Amino acid sequence: MAEVRSAILGTGRAYPQGILTNADLEKMVETSDDWITTRTGIKERHRAAEGEYTSLFAVQASRQAIERARIDPLEIGLVICATVSPDQILPSTGCLIQAELGAHKAAAFDLVAACSGFLYGLTMADKMIKTGQIRYALVIGAEVLTRYVDFTDRSTCILFGDGAGAAVMGPAEGDRGVLSTRIYSDGRFAEQLYSPGGGTRVRPTAETLAQGLHYFKMKGNELFKMAVRSMADVSIEVLNEAGFKPEDVKLFIPHQANQRITDAVASRLNVDGSIVYSNIAYHGNTSAASVPIALDECVEKGMMSEGDLVLLASFGGGVTWGGALIKW
Ligand code: UT7
Repeated sequence: MAEVRSAILGTGRAYPQGILTNADLEKMVETSDDWITTRTGIKERHRAAEGEYTSLFAVQASRQAIERARIDPLEIGLVICATVSPDQILPSTGCLIQAELGAHKAAAFDLVAACSGFLYGLTMADKMIKTGQIRYALVIGAEVLTRYVDFTDRSTCILFGDGAGAAVMGPAEGDRGVLSTRIYSDGRFAEQLYSPGGGTRVRPTAETLAQGLHYFKMKGNELFKMAVRSMADVSIEVLNEAGFKPEDVKLFIPHQANQRITDAVASRLNVDGSIVYSNIAYHGNTSAASVPIALDECVEKGMMSEGDLVLLASFGGGVTWGGALIKW
């Protein structure tokens, strides 16, 4: 039996109305719009208000993706919510989303792979569709990272934003669809980006909260170099596997961590800046939500035509990284 490819059939995105600008941050920490803009490319990011939470945005993004894929929620066999900022520890945000959507026949869970979460989810969904175990999967990246941001730490608080992106995947028609995927991790670098408290190792107490141990801590400089190398290498790998070269790519959507990282990856791949998508100026780094938000923006802007090669790559805490090549 010929192998069935998976394809992205519909996408969606959602984010809070609230916006935190560089000017707002200038009032909170010792920083400047100029420093943030030149060092990261970020001008503003969305920030959830009190009472807003991760699944709220995930459900909005998912409804849009399901509508565009023209399927019934009951046809979905798998819901993966990639997030490092779940609504709560138990149950999974995936299950909460499943209930809201009425996708009652789906397996649902959360996937923790930080900024690479969406590509990890896409890879899992691709394999389950290919093996025929499920027909449709909903893969979501959703974050309310600003709950874990220390707004007294200028090296991290300028970076992160909130939002969600979603994609419905299902069997591809013709020779379209996901051509290759690769995902990796290296836990030896766990402390490059982590939150030390709040789990079973350092359980949350009044003291750990006061010490801010639940906030993200990051060694930005070291991550920067790893991010560039890993995203470029994995991109080459997925291209090689499918028999293509960087110059064949029509649209490159990298994880939005820092404009300088994006530029450096593009330069390593030797691809023209015009094919590299960037929305970091308006979203900052939304971790698992970054790639699916960008993907949905590209779909809405009509940036891909049938048959175009679309390359996705990501890198994040863990550390984790991944790539995917899709024939649109
Ligand atoms: O999502 C995937 C995982 N995340 C990443 O891949 C993030 C990767 N890292 C980065 O994006 C960058 O490393 C940062 C944006 C976090 C930092 O940029 P950088 O160019 O690597 O700056 P740096 O950490 O080397 O700091 C340079 C200087 C330092 O001052 P001194 O020691 O040279 O006097 C910092 O204290 O800039 C200072 N600095 C700031 N100054 C103004 C750090 N943050 C700020 C700030 N405003 N917000």
